[in-house]
Amino acid sequence: MSQELKGNSKDSKNIIIIKDLVKTYGGQKILAGVDFKVKRNNKTTIIGASGCGKSTLLRLILGLEKFQEGEIFIEGQPISKLDEDELNIIRLRFGMVFQSAALFDSLTVGENVGLILKEHTKLKPSEIAKKVKEKLDMVGLADTYAQMPAALSGGMKKRVAFARAIVNDPSVLLFDEPTTGLDPITSTTIENLIKDLTDTIHATSIVVTHQISTILNTSEKIIMIHEGKAIKTEGPKKIMKSKNKMVYKFVNGLVDTAPKIV
Ligand SMILES: Nc1ncnc2c1ncn2[C@@H]1O[C@H](COP(=O)(O)OP(=O)(O)OP(=O)(O)O)[C@@H](O)[C@H]1O
Ligand SMILES: [Mg+2]
Repeated sequence: MSQELKGNSKDSKNIIIIKDLVKTYGGQKILAGVDFKVKRNNKTTIIGASGCGKSTLLRLILGLEKFQEGEIFIEGQPISKLDEDELNIIRLRFGMVFQSAALFDSLTVGENVGLILKEHTKLKPSEIAKKVKEKLDMVGLADTYAQMPAALSGGMKKRVAFARAIVNDPSVLLFDEPTTGLDPITSTTIENLIKDLTDTIHATSIVVTHQISTILNTSEKIIMIHEGKAIKTEGPKKIMKSKNKMVYKFVNGLVDTAPKIV
């Protein structure tokens, strides 16, 4: 995991640079020239209407899908030029929490969290167990090590997914809709956890969300995807009064006209 890519020209300020990114599905342009930068150790939030391409953007950053035009630079590396082995090295620098917790039902909580270490490192089972317990402790779930995911609540599953995402101390944490479907108190706990975990492991975070509390609580920079482009917005303190009409409407939940009833 300590393997480095050859010729890695690090941009010390920006860990990710997205340039003129175009993604189409079956001829339909979902991302039509997205541009933005993610500063190292910064907390970025991506917002935008359902279906605008937020999850797609995270998959592209992880190199799980190909894009048609533009480039994504990770630590200065243009990912479209990397082969699968090089992409795997890059992926190990990321921790991803998917829109659903996506735990394996047939594995215990401890096995779920430790899976990546078992598959991608030469660590002994006792060393893996130690790391897994340390991360479960960080998310407040040390007692669930031997339990099956089915025995956990939705909020607990989310926290296990967080423990799994940080088990290899990644440099970037990606969260897709981390608070959707959770009650307001659990959401706040999760939001605080996102900030604390990101700071504790000295990571950079990118959070995709619709939820206003998450936008206001976890962001230093907010990007809105609209009509395939990235709109830069005010920070969390001013976004509710955004001068950009589209951003203002989105965060305040305003619609142009009443929906047509036919
Ligand atoms: N594998 C795929 N094949 C074809 N179309 C896809 C695929 N994945 C996503 N899309 C389409 O791309 C668009 C963006 O999808 P995406 O899941 O990225 O949106 P999103 O912004 O994450 O939405 P939500 O807020 O509902 O999660 C949608 O129109 C979706 O139908
Ligand atoms: Mg999505």
